Amino acid sequence: MLDHGNGHLAESANGRAVGPDKTVANAVVQVTDLRKDYRLGADVVVHALRGVSMCVVPGEFVAIMGPSGSGKSTFMNLIGCLDRPTSGVYLLDGVDVTSLSPDKLAELRGSKLGFIFQGFNLLPRMDALENVMLPMMYGGVSGHERHERARAALQAVGLVDRASHRPSELSGGQQQRVAIARSLVNAPSVILADEPTGNLDSRTSTEIMGILQALNQAGATIVLVTHEPDIAGYCSRTVAFKDGLVVSDEPNRRIVSAADVMSGWPPSDEESA
Ligand SMILES: Nc1ncnc2c1ncn2[C@@H]1O[C@H](COP(=O)(O)OP(=O)(O)O)[C@@H](O)[C@H]1O
Ligand SMILES: [Mg+2]
Repeated sequence: MLDHGNGHLAESANGRAVGPDKTVANAVVQVTDLRKDYRLGADVVVHALRGVSMCVVPGEFVAIMGPSGSGKSTFMNLIGCLDRPTSGVYLLDGVDVTSLSPDKLAELRGSKLGFIFQGFNLLPRMDALENVMLPMMYGGVSGHERHERARAALQAVGLVDRASHRPSELSGGQQQRVAIARSLVNAPSVILADEPTGNLDSRTSTEIMGILQALNQAGATIVLVTHEPDIAGYCSRTVAFKDGLVVSDEPNRRIVSAADVMSGWPPSDEESA
C-alpha cells in the first residue's frame, strides 16, 4: 500500500488502510473520518459513508470505484459541497468547509469546483457558449471576459466551431464536451465528474477520457466516479469504496493513453464528412 506522499496511513479496526491521519500541506481535498447518515423515518438510518479519510493533491486524476450503493455519489456530493457530512472534517484548499454559511459555501463551490455529470446537465434554451459562460455569472467577471474565457474553454475541448449550437443540436459526446468546458471555465481547484461516460458509447467514452487526460496533463486535478475498470485505467490512481468505506487506494501502475487508443481507429463519420 503506497501513500502517494499524502501523509501517514491510518489503520482501521479491521486492518484496512483508510487514508492519511494528518494534515497535508498542499492537499486540494482532504477528508478525515467523513460520515454521512441518511435518516429514513423515525428509526431507520442508512450509513452511506462510515468514516472515509483520504486526500487529493494537485495534478492527480483519481478514479472512485465501487459497487452500486457503496457511497460514491454521497462522497462526491460532500466534496462538491452539495451536501454536508453528519460528522468528520473536510478541508478544500485548506479551508474547513463544514463550518461555512450556505452563502459562503455556494461562493466556494462556484470558484473552486467544477462539475461534470452523467446526464450533461446543460440548459436546453442556451447555446454551447452561453452554457459555458454560466458559472461566471456570479463571479464579477465582465461580459467581454466571460465571452473570451468561454470561447477558450470550448477551444480546449475542440468544440469552438459549435459555440452557437444548442444542446439538442449536438451529439451526446459533444454535449459532454460542452459540460467539460463549463467545468473548466473558472479554473477550479478540482473537477468532480460523477460517471461522466455513463451515457456514452465506448468510442465516445474514450474520446471524453482523452480530453480529461489532456486537461490533467495541462495541470487540472480531477476526481471521477466510474464503475468501469476500462475508464479507471485512464486515471492515475484508483480508490475503491465498499459499504461506505475506502477498501483500497492504489496508484495505477499502467495508465492507458486514450490518445494512443484513438490513434488506432479509422476516422469517424463525423471526422470524414
Ligand atoms: N438521499 C438519500 N436518502 C436516503 N438514502 C440515500 C440517499 N442517497 C443515498 N442513499 C443511500 O446511501 C447509500 C450510498 O448511496 P450512493 O452514495 O448513491 O452510492 P453509489 O453512488 O456508490 O451507488 C445507498 O444505500 C443509498 O441507498
Ligand atoms: Mg452513484
